[in-house]
This record gives sequence, structure tokens and C-alpha cells, in this order.
Amino acid sequence: MNPHPQIVVLDAGGQYCHLEARKVRDLGVYAEVRPSETPAAELAGARGLIISGGPSSVYEPGSPTVDPAIFASGQAVLGICYGQQIMAHLLGGEVRPGEKGEYGLATLELDETTDPLFAGLGGRQQIWMSHRDLVGAVPPGFSVAGRTDTCAVAAIAAPARKLYGLQFHPEVAHTARGREYLANFVFRVCGCVPDWDPRHRAPAIEQEIRQAAGDRSVFFFVSGGVDSTVAFHLCTLALGPGRVRGVYVDTGLMRDGDTDFAHHMAGVTVEDAREQFLDALGGVTDPEQKRHIIGEEFVRVQERVIESRRLMDEQWILGQGTIYPDTIESGGTAKAAVIKTHHNRVEGIRKLIACGRIVEPLRLLYKDEVRALGRELGLPAELLERHPFPGPGLAIRCLCSEFDAPVRPSREGHIIPVQSVGVQGDSRSYAPVLAIDALDHDRATALVNRLSGVNRVITLVAARAPLEELQVRACSLTPERLARLRRADATVRRLSQEGDFDRQVWQFPVILIPLGTADAPDSVVLRPVDSVDGMTARSVPMEPELLRKISAEVLRLDGIAGVFYDLTHKPPGTIEWE
Ligand code: XMP
Repeated sequence: MNPHPQIVVLDAGGQYCHLEARKVRDLGVYAEVRPSETPAAELAGARGLIISGGPSSVYEPGSPTVDPAIFASGQAVLGICYGQQIMAHLLGGEVRPGEKGEYGLATLELDETTDPLFAGLGGRQQIWMSHRDLVGAVPPGFSVAGRTDTCAVAAIAAPARKLYGLQFHPEVAHTARGREYLANFVFRVCGCVPDWDPRHRAPAIEQEIRQAAGDRSVFFFVSGGVDSTVAFHLCTLALGPGRVRGVYVDTGLMRDGDTDFAHHMAGVTVEDAREQFLDALGGVTDPEQKRHIIGEEFVRVQERVIESRRLMDEQWILGQGTIYPDTIESGGTAKAAVIKTHHNRVEGIRKLIACGRIVEPLRLLYKDEVRALGRELGLPAELLERHPFPGPGLAIRCLCSEFDAPVRPSREGHIIPVQSVGVQGDSRSYAPVLAIDALDHDRATALVNRLSGVNRVITLVAARAPLEELQVRACSLTPERLARLRRADATVRRLSQEGDFDRQVWQFPVILIPLGTADAPDSVVLRPVDSVDGMTARSVPMEPELLRKISAEVLRLDGIAGVFYDLTHKPPGTIEWE
């Protein structure tokens, strides 16, 4: 049985809606995300609603809205950022574009008040803002409780109706007292009672697995990642080891150590498909074609496994490690699901899903909740702390080139003639990369915004030869290049873990580009990013000492001519280079 959400976050298209739900759950109160337009009647069971932020303007046609009946339901409502604006707009206030945007840290001046949302929080404090529009006039019955230099209406309240708005983001770590705002809302305003601790979910999940399976067994394609491993383990606990089987497909595109790990998982067999994948990818340089081939080959392996193990027989259901954000398809979060469905599904798997022969034990949990549960179950820390790793594996971190081409000097630095992928709006674009001569994120951001035809800016941090002497050369995905990337990736991962840097980033791709000399034909790009869900990301700076250590050690590896640092946020540069 699903728990009943005490708080529902209405997703108005912001990457932050999941962060808001997660932060409420961190307070011990179960929260779920729903589309912003969900009818009030369907939300009646919740004690409180949060309307999330979002990138739109309330005046844009088609921008997200909410059912106005929620404001008259007697439920508590907290609008955050866009959520405050849509609340003000629908209740008779005024929203207008600010004279200048306010992005990043700001200082809030909050009135001393006894209002339950603001109790104990009055005074000056650091907050995090991200808006251009602002509330120009509050709706009738509301008062202003807080302001910044740029935004006169940063916190509003109509306490008798339990309606509140915050222009800033209490859910992000940069808002110093953000957790207290959320706690006040959840406990003092909504009167929620703690009902949620992911560490205690195992018995309920195991019960659900037993129900879904009946007397059948569960089969998984495991990837070696956190989610599929925890899901697999829960099924084993629920049904006993004899009734849970997994296959790990070794595509030859995995990181160092991944396949060894799979070899040691009880109940899992390794399907060695390295030759099949590498043969199919031989000579291919186009990134989209690489992805396509990997998808197709994966389908072939799945078909082979399903047939050879008679998994379509009535005795089997399919287990998957799907987690909560992947199940939500609304507003700004829909694309996360699209990103993940990189493999066309095999007909057999489609059928299993269509007739409900599937169990997804983690479908209500966020990643950090999966980790907490995994720790409780005694799974090893090095598994649980792993960063997300893409299905197509190292293939989308190993750039290829159709041509030989020289590095070209430009007014701003040097143009590296490899094609790296970026995002513009909803579409992907391929463009050469600009290398600048300083590790300067601000300059990189300004340049990438100004220059058309460039969606990524990097800087050289160590090299065996001057940048002008390096050459891009024609090449594809060869076992030799993949081995080189695997070594560089393992080196960076080890040093980043030793330096405790891996915990400060959400993901840390290491990319191989075919730029080098005759003796050392490739270079490595370090791409550490911080992110909420991979939809947007910020390039994270690294301590100079650690960077020196990493680049020196990578440069000593065979075949590596240079080490670069990617300074690009997403958008416009994607996390992976493809
Ligand atoms: P991009 O490169 O689009 O990546 O900024 C966003 C996030 O998605 C991951 N990613 C994938 N994950 N299959 C996956 O399971 C894929 O095909 C795939 N492509 C990208 C990427 O690692 C990052 O976390």
C-alpha cells in the first residue's frame, strides 16, 4: 500500500519541485509531486500544498497554473518563487517583470512576527533567489513579511487562510534557514505528524514484492548502479535468493571494476557482449549513430537472454530499479524520464510491463532515500555512494572524429575542432569547443552566452606540449581508446574519492577527446558538475591542489597529451560530451 502524502508539491515546471518534496521528506513527512493543474478535489486528502517554482511567467500563454479552488479549500498552501507569483496572480494581486533579475545569493529582511510560518525567523538572513518577475502588488488580505534590496515582496502571508508565498527558495542549501521555513510550514502551519523514514521501508516494500510476485520469480537486468542493486537486494530479501535472478550485460563500455562487482553479486550472471558491441561500433564516429547502435545491440542481447531463459513463461515477472523522479511525468520533470529511456525496449519487456508483470520496489523513493535504505540493509558504502552512470556507458564519454584537424587560434582563445553536444531549448546541437587560458567560470559563462556556434568552454590545466601543437585526428571507438579512458576515469575517481571531492559533486564524467600528438593521441576533460536531477547542472570548481594532483597523475598515463577542465554550465553544455 502506498503511503498517503501529507504534503503535495504541485510541479509548476521547475527543477526544484523534487528538491522541495525531498526536503519535506527529510523532515520525516511523506510528500509527493503532482502536476500543477491537478484538480483541488484530488488534493483534498493532503494537509498542505506547495506550489513549486518554474521558469515561466504567469502572463505567458500556456504557462503552468493551479486549480484556484485550492485557495478556498482550507488547506495550507505555500507558493515558492513562481508558486508565489501564480498565487498572487490568481488571487487578485499583480505580477510584473522586475527591473533586473535577481539570481543567486541575496539578503532577506524578515519582519519579527508571531505568524507560524515565520516564527523565530525574523531578521536579516541569507537566501537564494532566482527570478525576473516579481509580485508588484499583493492580493487583498495578504501582507508583506519580508523584502530584499531588489524585491519588495519576498515573503507574503494571509495567515487566517493559511496561504503563504516566498519569492526565494527555502529548499536549496544556500538559503541559510531554509529548512526552518519548510519545517514551520509542515508542522506549525499544516499540523503534519512525522510518518516517514525511508530506512524503515524495507518490510512494506518486501510485502509489496511478495504480493506482486505471487508464486512467480523475479528477473532483473542489473547495471551495477545503486538503484538496480538495491532493488535486486530487496527482492532477494522478500522472496529468497532462489527466486531472484539477474543478468548484467558487459557491453565493454563499462567503468573499471563494474563488471567485477557484478561477478560477485549472488544470483547475477554476466553476459559477455563486449565483442558484439565493439564490432558494431567499429569505425563509427557520429554520436547519434553510436547511441543508436548501442540501443539496438542492447535490445539484441535482451532478446537473447529472454529467449534463452524462457522469461516469457508465466513463472517470471520483471524487476526494475525505477526511482520516484523517473515515474513522474509532469511539467518540467517529464524529460528526466525521456533521458533515461535510452534503450528501445524489447518487445518481450514491453509485454511484461503491459500485462503488469513488473515490480519496481523503489518507485516511491528518491536517490538519497534509496541510499539510506541501502545503508540500513548493510550494502557496501562504495556501491551506495556511486554517482549516476549513463546506460550507453563510456561510449558517450569517448569522442570520435571523422577528420584530422588543427587547433585554431581565435580572439578569445583556441577553437578545438571536436564536435561536442549541447542543449538549446529542447533540441541538441553539436559544435566545436572553445579553450580559454584561465580557469575562470565567469568568463566562460559570458563567452558561451555571447558567441554563437560554441556551446562549451574549457581550459587546459596540464599538457605534454603547447596547445597549438596538439591536433585532432580521425578516430573511432577502439578497444585501445576505451582502455585509455577507463584508466583515466579510474585514476580520477580514486583521487577524487581520496580528496573527498566526489561527495561535493553530483556527477564527475571524465571525457576522452582525440586531441594530442603522435605519441600521445588523446586528451582528457574533467567535467565535475553539481545538479539536482541532471536536467540542469553547474560546473563545480576544484581545490587547486587536488586539481594539480589529478592532472599530473592523468598526464602520466600512456597516450594522454593534455588535461582540460570543463567550465560550462548546463544549459548550454550538456553533462556528457557524447
Ligand atoms: P546530459 O548529457 O544530457 O545528461 O546533460 C543528463 C544526465 O543524464 C545522464 N544520461 C543518461 N543516462 N542513459 C542514461 O541512463 C542515457 O542514455 C543517458 N544519457 C545521459 C547523464 O549521465 C546525466 O546524468
